[in-house]
Amino acid sequence: MAIRKIRTQGDSILAKECRKIEKMTPKLQELIDDMFDTMYDAYGVGLAGPQVGMLKQIVVIDTTGDDPHVLINPEILETSGSQTGDEGCLSVPGMSGTVTRPNYVKVKALNENMEEFILEGEELLARAICHEVDHLHGRLYTELVEGELRRTSYEEDDE
Ligand code: NI
Repeated sequence: MAIRKIRTQGDSILAKECRKIEKMTPKLQELIDDMFDTMYDAYGVGLAGPQVGMLKQIVVIDTTGDDPHVLINPEILETSGSQTGDEGCLSVPGMSGTVTRPNYVKVKALNENMEEFILEGEELLARAICHEVDHLHGRLYTELVEGELRRTSYEEDDE
């Protein structure tokens, strides 16, 4: 188990396009394990490659604490509906903002065995899929915030 350093807003890697993954390797498997460890350690519900300094199309998501997904080379196939709510990002610590996202998302991706699968999500899972896929294309949720970014009551600086 290894916790990796999470890159924060202002780091140029977060604004870059990620490369597709061609094949699974022991190093990539280790990256996946570390991404889950890092996400759970930070109480996040998703984490994307560039957030740990890897410009690769890989995302981990777990919106319930008991529903882990690995998405390699994810491609959103369908969206519908909309939801407006609070969103945050481990790369923008201590902040949140109001973002409108689709309420339903259907995504195609490869799992850690490089097998294609389809994942459908609603509400928080749909929001997380959109947010994490955006990371793979250099986009942060802060670009989508309606109104002002808010400081959350949780203050890292107080430690
Ligand atoms: Ni994020």
